[in-house]
Amino acid sequence: MADIVIAVHDLVKKFGDFVAVDHVSFTVQRGEVVGYLGPNGSGKTTTMRMLLGLLQPTTGMARVLGFDATRETERVRPLAGYMSQKFALYEDLTVRENLVFYAGVYGLGPAAYRPRVKELMALIGLTGQEGVRAGQLAGGWRQRLALGIALVHQPQLLFLDEPTSGVDPEARRAFWDIIYTLAEQGTTVFVSTHYMDEAEHCGRLGIMNQGRLLAWDAPSVLKRTVVPGAAWDVLAPDGVPLIPLLEALERTPGVWQAGLLGDHLHAILAPDVSETGGLEAALAPYPGARLEPAEVTLDDVFTVLAKRHAEGA
Ligand SMILES: Nc1ncnc2c1ncn2[C@@H]1O[C@H](COP(=O)(O)OP(=O)(O)OP(=O)(O)O)[C@@H](O)[C@H]1O
Ligand SMILES: [Mg+2]
Repeated sequence: MADIVIAVHDLVKKFGDFVAVDHVSFTVQRGEVVGYLGPNGSGKTTTMRMLLGLLQPTTGMARVLGFDATRETERVRPLAGYMSQKFALYEDLTVRENLVFYAGVYGLGPAAYRPRVKELMALIGLTGQEGVRAGQLAGGWRQRLALGIALVHQPQLLFLDEPTSGVDPEARRAFWDIIYTLAEQGTTVFVSTHYMDEAEHCGRLGIMNQGRLLAWDAPSVLKRTVVPGAAWDVLAPDGVPLIPLLEALERTPGVWQAGLLGDHLHAILAPDVSETGGLEAALAPYPGARLEPAEVTLDDVFTVLAKRHAEGA
């Protein structure tokens, strides 16, 4: 049997009448990197806090590392790491002092924390910066230090809540390299994000919207199974206004969904239409506008799921 690290069944969290997490169920296996994708307020942090025993579910069940996440929190906590969305560093302490402080919180004595701190410095790429005060670190480096702190007690399961929000793309890539290193070493990673490119990096992905888990699968599977038909990009020469062209696409019967994507348009066709689904006819009044086959994106997946959810499907 697969080694199940997180098992969530019918989990609900209400704040008064407001349902923040709405009958969510999923399982995570050992060694997976699972992404939890959703817009602001979709219930990502609330889910994580319940898994960590920081918040009592209204109803439902959550087991983490074989323990009841609500009743056996003290068994889970030494085995799990958490980098919270609003993580705090001790600004006046140095990088090393921050790590040593948290090592102490987890009960590690000097003999245990000295090698661990050294190892973590190398992992997060801060070797040589031990003496820099946390308050002086730039964005991406603060994030890495917060990750190091979450890892101080060598957790086998790591919860990261939007760990790269607000850092530049290069720092985000470097951060993900560390996540992969951890996963290769056997750590299970549960990471929330609202970046689609990050979501692509996850082995499996949960897609949240308004408290509901709309899908749970590998990104490639979601793209293949959720989006009904082919995707096309519509490129127009300079001078052709995109909005009327977008409206024309939206009026085309074979087009299931159309939107603006940077300097061009992106359309998803209905499943049962011919190859280009009438797009050519829609483009005819716009000289120079042309079609290019496109990849289905996770944005498409999210749009389709959210639309179906809104329609009550
Ligand atoms: N303690 C609380 N009391 C009342 N409402 C709450 C509480 N905590 C969260 N909520 C509400 O529950 C919803 C889900 O919040 P949550 O923080 O889980 O979203 P999120 O997906 O993490 O969003 P973000 O991407 O902004 O971090 C939000 O509408 C939020 O306002
Ligand atoms: Mg959140």
